[in-house]
Amino acid sequence: MADVHYPNLIHRPEWTALADHRAEGPLHLRELFASDPGRAERYVVRVGDLHIDYSKQLITDETLALLQELATATDVFGLRDAMFRGERINITEDRAVLHTALRAPRDAVIEVDGENVVPQVHAVLDKMSDFAQRVRSGAWTGHTGRRIRNVVNIGIGGSDLGPAMAYEALRSFADRDLTVRFVSNVDGADLHEATRDLDPAETLFIVASKTFTTIETITNATSARSWLLEAFEGDEKAVAKHFVALSTNSGKVTEFGIDPDNMFEFWDWVGGRYSYDSAIGLSLMIAIGPDRFREMLDGFHLVDEHFRTAPAEANAPLLLGLLGIWYGNFHDAQSHAVLPYSHYLSKFTAYLQQLDMESNGKSVDRHGRRVEWQTGPVVWGTPGTNGQHAYYQLIHQGTKLIPADFIGFARPVGELSPELAAQHDLLMANFFAQTQALAFGKSAEEVRAEGVPEEQVAHRTFHGDHPTTTILAAELTPSVLGQLIALYEHKVFVQGAVWDIDSFDQWGVELGKVLAKRVEPALTKGADVPGLDPSTTALVAAYRTLKNA
Ligand code: F6P
Repeated sequence: MADVHYPNLIHRPEWTALADHRAEGPLHLRELFASDPGRAERYVVRVGDLHIDYSKQLITDETLALLQELATATDVFGLRDAMFRGERINITEDRAVLHTALRAPRDAVIEVDGENVVPQVHAVLDKMSDFAQRVRSGAWTGHTGRRIRNVVNIGIGGSDLGPAMAYEALRSFADRDLTVRFVSNVDGADLHEATRDLDPAETLFIVASKTFTTIETITNATSARSWLLEAFEGDEKAVAKHFVALSTNSGKVTEFGIDPDNMFEFWDWVGGRYSYDSAIGLSLMIAIGPDRFREMLDGFHLVDEHFRTAPAEANAPLLLGLLGIWYGNFHDAQSHAVLPYSHYLSKFTAYLQQLDMESNGKSVDRHGRRVEWQTGPVVWGTPGTNGQHAYYQLIHQGTKLIPADFIGFARPVGELSPELAAQHDLLMANFFAQTQALAFGKSAEEVRAEGVPEEQVAHRTFHGDHPTTTILAAELTPSVLGQLIALYEHKVFVQGAVWDIDSFDQWGVELGKVLAKRVEPALTKGADVPGLDPSTTALVAAYRTLKNA
């Protein structure tokens, strides 16, 4: 590929044009709708089951055209095509980035170093399906012959957040006779709480770790093995029936004592935060069954194909990515809220935090130069309506611009009683009311007209003009979840491409890991740690005093 990222991003004419456009002074959303009511129909893109409305964004047709010119100038689609072709676009780790191959149909051909990886993907999916069915049917039994009733996934980061989020999201499709839990924190309380009421004879541990060297996961897995062996009087044979591994590292899996036959493989071209549709999704597959899991993969694939083939003006991930750039780089927005109006999406934003912030939390470009522009935003949010009674005040009337995505569904899922199902309209009334209030606010005149005393008018005025995207679907099905996740994956990709950063490495988490290993002996044994700074030395001393008091 040509070096399209020269000159520096902010010196490009397309960037300057956007800055000039921004300086022309924004129109309020009230004015934008008054002068162009058709934007409500025009600023909508439909992808699969997703209805994405971006009419309440602080944009005009000109803004969109300028953003698309920036995407063209930075060759977003060139990098996209390189990703789909299996080129090594993760430059600092010299790896292909092929999570899209994880959901490719069986007859697709996607090559890495001349080898078609699709047959391997489907071989692992088939092995997972077979195993999941055996656990679900009771054919796979524990050491004493009892059927498995509890599944505990031990992993962290991408080896936890994805399956934990998706299990919550698709809980209404899960086998309710199975207890499925996720342990990630090296705080012993996590494993303790997850196992304290479980019977070891009925418990399967899934140790999920791409590298199988992550200290939190290996520590928790070792403790889980001790918990199990204690129940079986140290009989090591029990491990084979109660532990499976999901990893790229068969050597380390064997070293840990898990039979490689009980390992489900994935590959170095799957990034941790892009991995829950790989073997990392085994706990989810056991919970919802292989058919539902494959429906989810089809949902991912549908959006992959959309991203790969849709023209720029109708390309949803491109659009969402560019809108983020409009706010982050031209309005000084520092954060982005994702607000799902679904209880089942309670972990959705936490999952997106890793996807987005680990991918685009970078400050050097792909050539190693310090960037002179803002990169990834702080991503945050919790399900509505709870957030409305907590932090929405700041979004409505605070001093910060917080672009937000509202995600909602037309119908509830699950076996709700008629009375509970009827609550759905109230949930969604809040959903629509919030984006309306954020966009259009309430003017001082309107407040006065209500007879509010003059000294309170300013307090009760809502400026509005807060940008939101509304994403609607009929129901939260496995396919819709796959579509949503792929939409965000590719949005993050688009932004990384424009910002000219490597969205697929994560060197920023390494230093803390190395330092934790160095500090640990000071905490456990009071050992002298050479090179520790004075502040940390004093804190370690205070910790030891408190610990031993
Ligand atoms: O936090 C860094 C990280 O490397 C993530 O990218 C990854 O998802 C997580 O640790 C877990 O890694 P592993 O799956 O190798 O245990």
